[in-house]
Amino acid sequence: MTIHIGAQPGEIAETVLLPGDPLRAKWAAETFLDDAKCVNQVRGMLGFTGFWRGNPVTIQGSGMGMPSLSIYVNELIKDYDAKTLIRIGSAGGMSPKVKLRDVVIAMTASTLSTPSLGMFKEINFAPCADYGLLEAAVASARGRGIDAHVGGIYSSDVFYDERPDLSEQMTRHGILAVEMETAELYNLAARHNRRALAVCTISDHLLTHEALPSEDRERSFGDMVEIALEAAFA
Ligand code: ADE
Repeated sequence: MTIHIGAQPGEIAETVLLPGDPLRAKWAAETFLDDAKCVNQVRGMLGFTGFWRGNPVTIQGSGMGMPSLSIYVNELIKDYDAKTLIRIGSAGGMSPKVKLRDVVIAMTASTLSTPSLGMFKEINFAPCADYGLLEAAVASARGRGIDAHVGGIYSSDVFYDERPDLSEQMTRHGILAVEMETAELYNLAARHNRRALAVCTISDHLLTHEALPSEDRERSFGDMVEIALEAAFA
């Protein structure tokens, strides 16, 4: 057990999927895993371990934002020795190329600040995905007939961001979408020599102001979970 995860030693798999929302962790575990068992309930941040095609998998909520994700990923890596960590989450479209429900596979995650900022000091470290996972996720999406976008995303600290100039610059530099967790996931994976990837579904759009109705989210979320699982075990 750790401060934030109540699982016993051996109850967390080497492969961990990380949705922000703990109830999505429950839904994904019940929908895609066999013999899923709840292994964490601390602070309601649910985590489940089960099997996908015979392979052990944990699906653990990470909460919203990089400080929250950083707590769970640090403990998953340092205390439970998680080796492959894949974020599955929603993101806001920032590029005209990206539409609602599209899948975005994050090659890089730009950011203004992360919990790792103090460590990098003057270095502008470029958080990036594990290439093998990225390639496998793209192949999985193609195999399912999903035309996934692959490129840079922006990990923000602010959901209600009132700096329009920042969004404009991100869009201008080809950033596909905004979310709030991936840069720190990629930083921590690099620091501890683990594999990481983020697969996101576009739930709203900053340019068009559209948003996905909540009943539509489940189906798109399912594609993302299956892409993440296939990539992890490719
Ligand atoms: N996650 C989903 N949509 C988002 C948005 N518009 N900004 C930040 N994170 C998001």
